[in-house]
Amino acid sequence: MTESASTTRPVVVAHDLHKTFKDFWRRPKVHALKGVDLEVQPGEIFGLLGPNGAGKSTLIKLLLGLLRPSSGDIRIFDQSPSDVRSKERIGYLPEETTLYRYLTARETLSFYARLFDLDAAARRERVDQLIEMIGLARAETRVVGEYSKGMGRRIGLAQALLNDPELLILDEPTSGLDPAGRRQIKDLIQALARRGRTVVLSSHLLADVEDICDRIAILFSGRVYALGRTRDLLEAEHRTRITFPEVTEEAMRTVLAAIQTASGVEPDVDRPTVPLEHFFLDVIESAQQSERDPTGATSGGELAPFLDRGSDHDPDP
Ligand SMILES: Nc1ncnc2c1ncn2[C@@H]1O[C@H](COP(=O)(O)OP(=O)(O)OP(=O)(O)O)[C@@H](O)[C@H]1O
Ligand SMILES: [Mg+2]
Repeated sequence: MTESASTTRPVVVAHDLHKTFKDFWRRPKVHALKGVDLEVQPGEIFGLLGPNGAGKSTLIKLLLGLLRPSSGDIRIFDQSPSDVRSKERIGYLPEETTLYRYLTARETLSFYARLFDLDAAARRERVDQLIEMIGLARAETRVVGEYSKGMGRRIGLAQALLNDPELLILDEPTSGLDPAGRRQIKDLIQALARRGRTVVLSSHLLADVEDICDRIAILFSGRVYALGRTRDLLEAEHRTRITFPEVTEEAMRTVLAAIQTASGVEPDVDRPTVPLEHFFLDVIESAQQSERDPTGATSGGELAPFLDRGSDHDPDP
């Protein structure tokens, strides 16, 4: 998020949002949301976390105007989610990607591209670029019914990006993807946010959320129990870490003694570890170099040129 972004108006505002599902006789059955307050700022990646049934997908459906709140307010770009003007600025990846089994990836994307006000050449260009971006160029002529779950997710993401949305709402975008696919999707989400797009995503994959979300909300039983900047929420209080390259034993003894003299406490010493994701991706990368004819999805991962607009500023340090 940039300085200027934080002073502009929020993209999403939810205030005291309640949603109660009623049964067939219109008796209250499930209180899925019980007074949710949150704001999402432009250019931010905002994560919704919570156990199964916490209300994440319900909140997402309210943002999209697919459900109406029982009470409370919700605004997207300062408009009601039911206003069609907000819809053309939003891209949505549902929890389950439902695809027409007998269409190919290209036919699927071309079908959805027709829903937008684009001429045939622009449609074809966007579909080509998105197929390349999600790494399905090799499989584009296969019918999507044959696709693995992760390949289906990639198509779903491409579909959500066809209209070059300002706000992307992604319900579990990385579920079902292999680690390299997850890394790619995370990189794409970050690249979009750096170019000013706003992203709201839900996920159970905490490592992914920690990796890319600027702020998070943790829901439980329809209420927000934690909300804030990811880094602030996770910072270990009253601890300081100093990291430096390997030094001789003697130098280490001197450093430790100096810290102990200055602070009166004995520091803990250990070696930092790399995240398993980095290690795994390194192993796969070297395996790919030794494998002559690798199978599976191609790498993809470069942002589609039509999405590559807006300032590419550094994320928060
Ligand atoms: N259409 C519906 N009718 C009745 N109850 C519903 C409906 N949709 C959701 N619920 C209920 O609302 C609560 C919240 O569901 P929701 O799908 O929002 O959870 P979630 O956080 O997305 O869970 P998950 O992690 O499993 O996707 C659950 O108790 C669920 O059973
Ligand atoms: Mg859900």
